[in-house]
Amino acid sequence: MNQLPIGVFDSGLGGLTVVHAIYERLPAESTIYFGDTARVPYGPKSPETVRRYSLEILHWLLTQSVKAVVIACNTSTAHALDALRAASPVPVIGVIEPGARAAVRAATGRGIGVIGTAGTVASGAYVRAIHALAPGAQVIQRACPLFVPLVEEGWFDHHATELIGEEYLAPVRQAGVGALVLGCTHYPLLKPLLHRVMGPDVALIDSAAETASALAETLKEKGIEAPAGAVPTHRFAVSDDAARFLAVGSRFLGDRLAEAEVVDLTP
Ligand code: DGL
Repeated sequence: MNQLPIGVFDSGLGGLTVVHAIYERLPAESTIYFGDTARVPYGPKSPETVRRYSLEILHWLLTQSVKAVVIACNTSTAHALDALRAASPVPVIGVIEPGARAAVRAATGRGIGVIGTAGTVASGAYVRAIHALAPGAQVIQRACPLFVPLVEEGWFDHHATELIGEEYLAPVRQAGVGALVLGCTHYPLLKPLLHRVMGPDVALIDSAAETASALAETLKEKGIEAPAGAVPTHRFAVSDDAARFLAVGSRFLGDRLAEAEVVDLTP
């Protein structure tokens, strides 16, 4: 059991930021990553559709004998975490609760900004998770749908991205928040730019690192950690266009992303 891989999935390649954080935090753990590149983006889709896609991916990961599943997608976590937990015999970890916990810690009583896809923001999942931990916290949300295609284009530090960032984040800045949750898998790649836009007093919360820590805690709690010094294997699968996944995904994971298989999820 302990040597089995961890299943990680996302709507596309943004979840590779979470894989990267898992490599750093849990270097002995093997992983299987699934990116739903045929059906990305999830951000503008209905909760029902995102839930159905997420359940299909969960079932595929379970056929690969994973010992835990990480939903490395904020939109899928927002709409499907409960459904996946109910359907899964292995632990399922989402990105929202860990991000909320880190934000409450970092904001030190000041307000908390949350940015994400339209779906994540509309779900109110971050607001609920933050209020569960800090009932009186002031939370201001903003959907930033243009950030995902800009990141996929590789425009991490482009002046056009910065202008759009200024526009999206003006109300969050005016609210004087102490922390900003990067509530979308792609946003950690915009960290330097967002740091400039928000200023030095605002802590940027990267759910990826927090999620890897939550995963580490769960594996320990269940006694299913890989033995120290185990040599991990890492597999990548997508639902379409492996070549583009490898080309763009290497921006997230460097040369550790070597090959990807294409999997057909249709039953
Ligand atoms: N992975 C999605 C998220 O974290 C962003 C991309 C999409 O819209 O599918 O919300």
